[in-house]
Amino acid sequence: MEYYIIFGPPGAGKGTQSSLLVEKFKFRHVSTGQLLRDEIKRGSEIGVIAKGLIESGQYVSDSIVLQMVKDLINSAGPSVKGFIFDGFPRTICQAESFDKMLREERGEEINGVLSLEVDDEIIVSRIRKRAEVEGRKDDSSLNTVLDRISTYHEKTEPLKEYYIRRGKFFAIDGGVTVNEIFNNICKVMESIGNE
Ligand code: AP5
Ligand code: MG
Repeated sequence: MEYYIIFGPPGAGKGTQSSLLVEKFKFRHVSTGQLLRDEIKRGSEIGVIAKGLIESGQYVSDSIVLQMVKDLINSAGPSVKGFIFDGFPRTICQAESFDKMLREERGEEINGVLSLEVDDEIIVSRIRKRAEVEGRKDDSSLNTVLDRISTYHEKTEPLKEYYIRRGKFFAIDGGVTVNEIFNNICKVMESIGNE
Protein backbone atom coordinates (compact mmCIF):
# COMPACT_ATOMS: atom_id res chain seq x y z
CA MET A 1 0.00 0.00 0.00
CA GLU A 2 1.23 3.52 -0.73
CA TYR A 3 0.67 6.44 1.64
CA TYR A 4 1.25 10.03 0.54
CA ILE A 5 0.55 13.14 2.60
CA ILE A 6 -0.35 16.42 0.88
CA PHE A 7 0.80 18.98 3.40
CA GLY A 8 0.35 22.73 3.61
CA PRO A 9 -1.46 25.68 5.19
CA PRO A 10 -5.18 26.38 4.73
CA GLY A 11 -5.90 27.28 1.11
CA ALA A 12 -2.56 25.96 -0.14
CA GLY A 13 -4.24 23.76 -2.73
CA LYS A 14 -4.22 20.43 -0.85
CA GLY A 15 -7.75 19.51 -1.92
CA THR A 16 -7.20 20.65 -5.52
CA GLN A 17 -4.03 18.59 -5.91
CA SER A 18 -5.45 15.59 -4.03
CA SER A 19 -8.36 15.35 -6.47
CA LEU A 20 -6.00 15.34 -9.45
CA LEU A 21 -3.75 12.73 -7.84
CA VAL A 22 -6.65 10.47 -6.95
CA GLU A 23 -7.84 10.60 -10.55
CA LYS A 24 -4.39 9.77 -11.93
CA PHE A 25 -3.33 7.05 -9.49
CA LYS A 26 -6.76 5.75 -8.42
CA PHE A 27 -5.75 6.15 -4.80
CA ARG A 28 -8.27 6.92 -2.05
CA HIS A 29 -8.55 10.56 -0.96
CA VAL A 30 -8.71 11.07 2.80
CA SER A 31 -9.52 14.68 3.71
CA THR A 32 -10.08 14.86 7.47
CA GLY A 33 -11.58 18.35 7.00
CA GLN A 34 -14.15 16.97 4.55
CA LEU A 35 -14.91 13.99 6.81
CA LEU A 36 -15.55 16.39 9.68
CA ARG A 37 -17.74 18.66 7.52
CA ASP A 38 -19.77 15.54 6.56
CA GLU A 39 -20.21 14.72 10.26
CA ILE A 40 -21.42 18.28 10.89
CA LYS A 41 -23.91 17.98 8.05
CA ARG A 42 -25.20 14.70 9.50
CA GLY A 43 -25.50 16.27 12.95
CA SER A 44 -23.63 13.32 14.49
CA GLU A 45 -22.01 13.40 17.93
CA ILE A 46 -18.60 14.09 16.34
CA GLY A 47 -20.20 16.76 14.15
CA VAL A 48 -21.59 18.59 17.15
CA ILE A 49 -18.15 18.63 18.80
CA ALA A 50 -16.37 19.61 15.56
CA LYS A 51 -18.67 22.45 14.52
CA GLY A 52 -17.61 25.07 17.09
CA LEU A 53 -13.94 24.19 16.79
CA ILE A 54 -13.81 24.34 12.99
CA GLU A 55 -15.80 27.54 12.83
CA SER A 56 -13.37 29.25 15.19
CA GLY A 57 -10.26 28.03 13.37
CA GLN A 58 -9.28 25.47 16.04
CA TYR A 59 -8.37 21.82 15.58
CA VAL A 60 -10.56 18.88 16.50
CA SER A 61 -9.01 16.54 19.09
CA ASP A 62 -6.31 14.11 18.00
CA SER A 63 -8.26 11.12 19.34
CA ILE A 64 -11.35 11.83 17.20
CA VAL A 65 -9.31 12.42 14.04
CA LEU A 66 -7.10 9.38 14.57
CA GLN A 67 -10.10 7.09 15.07
CA MET A 68 -11.72 8.39 11.86
CA VAL A 69 -8.55 7.78 9.85
CA LYS A 70 -8.02 4.34 11.36
CA ASP A 71 -11.59 3.28 10.50
CA LEU A 72 -11.15 4.52 6.95
CA ILE A 73 -7.89 2.69 6.33
CA ASN A 74 -9.25 -0.52 7.84
CA SER A 75 -12.40 -0.36 5.74
CA ALA A 76 -10.47 -0.13 2.45
CA GLY A 77 -10.89 -3.26 0.35
CA PRO A 78 -8.10 -5.07 -1.54
CA SER A 79 -8.70 -2.97 -4.66
CA VAL A 80 -7.32 0.13 -2.89
CA LYS A 81 -3.64 0.53 -3.76
CA GLY A 82 -2.87 3.72 -1.93
CA PHE A 83 -4.06 6.75 -0.01
CA ILE A 84 -3.67 10.49 -0.39
CA PHE A 85 -3.99 12.16 3.01
CA ASP A 86 -5.09 15.79 2.82
CA GLY A 87 -4.95 17.81 6.04
CA PHE A 88 -3.77 14.85 8.10
CA PRO A 89 -1.58 14.50 10.16
CA ARG A 90 -1.79 17.99 11.57
CA THR A 91 -0.10 17.68 14.97
CA ILE A 92 3.02 15.90 16.20
CA CYS A 93 0.76 13.55 18.18
CA GLN A 94 -1.17 12.62 15.01
CA ALA A 95 2.05 12.05 13.05
CA GLU A 96 3.56 9.84 15.74
CA SER A 97 0.36 7.84 16.22
CA PHE A 98 -0.03 7.43 12.45
CA ASP A 99 3.55 6.17 12.04
CA LYS A 100 3.07 3.79 14.96
CA MET A 101 -0.22 2.48 13.60
CA LEU A 102 1.22 1.79 10.13
CA ARG A 103 4.32 0.16 11.62
CA GLU A 104 2.62 -2.03 14.23
CA GLU A 105 -0.62 -2.94 12.48
CA ARG A 106 0.64 -3.19 8.87
CA GLY A 107 4.44 -3.32 8.92
CA GLU A 108 4.41 -0.29 6.59
CA GLU A 109 5.47 3.34 6.54
CA ILE A 110 4.47 6.49 4.69
CA ASN A 111 6.07 7.04 1.27
CA GLY A 112 6.39 10.80 1.43
CA VAL A 113 5.09 14.17 2.52
CA LEU A 114 4.50 16.58 -0.37
CA SER A 115 4.47 20.05 1.11
CA LEU A 116 2.82 22.91 -0.80
CA GLU A 117 4.82 26.02 0.09
CA VAL A 118 2.70 29.17 -0.22
CA ASP A 119 2.95 32.59 1.46
CA ASP A 120 0.22 33.68 3.88
CA GLU A 121 -0.90 36.61 1.65
CA ILE A 122 -1.58 34.31 -1.30
CA ILE A 123 -3.57 31.84 0.78
CA VAL A 124 -5.71 34.58 2.32
CA SER A 125 -6.64 35.82 -1.14
CA ARG A 126 -7.35 32.27 -2.40
CA ILE A 127 -9.62 31.54 0.56
CA ARG A 128 -11.45 34.88 0.22
CA LYS A 129 -12.16 34.00 -3.41
CA ARG A 130 -13.30 30.48 -2.54
CA ALA A 131 -15.62 31.91 0.13
CA GLU A 132 -17.71 33.48 -2.63
CA VAL A 133 -18.09 30.14 -4.41
CA GLU A 134 -18.25 27.32 -1.84
CA GLY A 135 -19.83 28.93 1.22
CA ARG A 136 -17.68 27.09 3.77
CA LYS A 137 -18.44 28.50 7.24
CA ASP A 138 -14.74 28.68 8.20
CA ASP A 139 -14.00 30.78 5.08
CA SER A 140 -16.65 33.38 5.77
CA SER A 141 -14.82 35.71 8.18
CA LEU A 142 -11.31 37.07 7.76
CA ASN A 143 -10.67 36.59 11.49
CA THR A 144 -11.43 32.87 11.27
CA VAL A 145 -9.17 32.54 8.24
CA LEU A 146 -6.36 34.29 10.12
CA ASP A 147 -6.97 32.06 13.17
CA ARG A 148 -6.70 28.95 10.95
CA ILE A 149 -3.41 30.24 9.59
CA SER A 150 -2.00 30.86 13.08
CA THR A 151 -3.18 27.44 14.29
CA TYR A 152 -1.32 25.98 11.29
CA HIS A 153 1.90 27.85 12.11
CA GLU A 154 1.73 26.88 15.77
CA LYS A 155 0.63 23.23 15.62
CA THR A 156 1.25 21.91 12.10
CA GLU A 157 4.35 23.64 10.77
CA PRO A 158 6.58 21.84 13.35
CA LEU A 159 5.73 18.62 11.49
CA LYS A 160 8.08 19.74 8.71
CA GLU A 161 11.03 19.16 11.02
CA TYR A 162 9.56 15.81 12.09
CA TYR A 163 9.39 14.53 8.50
CA ILE A 164 12.69 16.12 7.41
CA ARG A 165 14.44 14.14 10.16
CA ARG A 166 12.86 10.96 8.82
CA GLY A 167 13.83 11.72 5.20
CA LYS A 168 10.18 11.90 4.12
CA PHE A 169 9.77 15.62 3.40
CA PHE A 170 9.54 17.09 -0.13
CA ALA A 171 8.90 20.83 -0.59
CA ILE A 172 6.94 21.94 -3.67
CA ASP A 173 6.32 25.52 -4.81
CA GLY A 174 2.59 25.98 -4.26
CA GLY A 175 2.49 29.54 -5.64
CA VAL A 176 2.44 28.57 -9.33
CA THR A 177 -0.42 27.24 -11.49
CA VAL A 178 -2.44 24.14 -10.58
CA ASN A 179 -0.97 22.20 -13.51
CA GLU A 180 2.63 23.16 -12.77
CA ILE A 181 2.20 22.08 -9.15
CA PHE A 182 0.59 18.83 -10.22
CA ASN A 183 3.45 18.03 -12.64
CA ASN A 184 6.02 18.76 -9.94
CA ILE A 185 4.22 16.55 -7.43
CA CYS A 186 4.09 13.70 -9.96
CA LYS A 187 7.84 14.06 -10.60
CA VAL A 188 8.58 13.86 -6.89
CA MET A 189 6.32 10.82 -6.47
CA GLU A 190 8.08 9.14 -9.36
CA SER A 191 11.49 9.84 -7.79
CA ILE A 192 10.31 8.44 -4.44
CA GLY A 193 9.03 5.33 -6.23
CA ASN A 194 12.41 4.80 -7.93
CA GLU A 195 14.50 5.10 -4.77
P1 AP5 B 1 -9.40 21.34 5.95
O1 AP5 B 1 -10.66 21.05 5.24
O2 AP5 B 1 -8.26 20.43 5.83
O3 AP5 B 1 -9.01 22.84 5.57
P2 AP5 B 1 -7.64 23.60 5.45
O4 AP5 B 1 -6.41 22.90 5.87
O5 AP5 B 1 -7.91 24.92 6.09
O6 AP5 B 1 -7.44 23.72 3.92
P3 AP5 B 1 -8.47 24.17 2.84
O7 AP5 B 1 -9.41 23.06 2.53
O8 AP5 B 1 -9.06 25.48 3.23
O9 AP5 B 1 -7.50 24.47 1.62
P4 AP5 B 1 -6.75 23.46 0.65
O10 AP5 B 1 -5.32 23.42 1.00
O11 AP5 B 1 -7.50 22.18 0.52
O12 AP5 B 1 -6.87 24.32 -0.67
P5 AP5 B 1 -7.87 24.18 -1.93
O13 AP5 B 1 -7.39 23.12 -2.83
O14 AP5 B 1 -9.28 24.15 -1.48
O15 AP5 B 1 -9.72 21.47 7.52
C1 AP5 B 1 -10.77 22.27 7.98
C2 AP5 B 1 -10.82 22.25 9.48
O16 AP5 B 1 -11.13 20.92 9.94
C3 AP5 B 1 -9.51 22.60 10.21
O17 AP5 B 1 -9.35 23.99 10.36
C4 AP5 B 1 -9.70 21.88 11.54
O18 AP5 B 1 -10.56 22.59 12.38
C5 AP5 B 1 -10.41 20.60 11.13
N1 AP5 B 1 -9.45 19.51 10.83
C6 AP5 B 1 -9.20 18.97 9.61
N2 AP5 B 1 -8.25 18.02 9.69
C7 AP5 B 1 -7.88 17.96 10.99
C8 AP5 B 1 -6.91 17.21 11.70
N3 AP5 B 1 -6.12 16.31 11.06
N4 AP5 B 1 -6.79 17.41 13.04
C9 AP5 B 1 -7.58 18.31 13.68
N5 AP5 B 1 -8.50 19.07 13.07
C10 AP5 B 1 -8.66 18.90 11.74
O19 AP5 B 1 -7.55 25.58 -2.62
C11 AP5 B 1 -8.00 26.80 -2.04
C12 AP5 B 1 -8.57 27.71 -3.14
O20 AP5 B 1 -7.50 28.12 -4.00
C13 AP5 B 1 -9.60 27.03 -4.03
O21 AP5 B 1 -10.57 27.94 -4.39
C14 AP5 B 1 -8.78 26.59 -5.26
O22 AP5 B 1 -9.55 26.53 -6.42
C15 AP5 B 1 -7.71 27.68 -5.34
N6 AP5 B 1 -6.41 27.18 -5.82
C16 AP5 B 1 -5.85 25.97 -5.57
N7 AP5 B 1 -4.64 25.89 -6.15
C17 AP5 B 1 -4.42 27.08 -6.77
C18 AP5 B 1 -3.33 27.61 -7.54
N8 AP5 B 1 -2.25 26.90 -7.76
N9 AP5 B 1 -3.44 28.85 -8.00
C19 AP5 B 1 -4.57 29.60 -7.76
N10 AP5 B 1 -5.64 29.15 -7.05
C20 AP5 B 1 -5.56 27.91 -6.56
MG1 MG C 1 -9.17 21.33 1.46
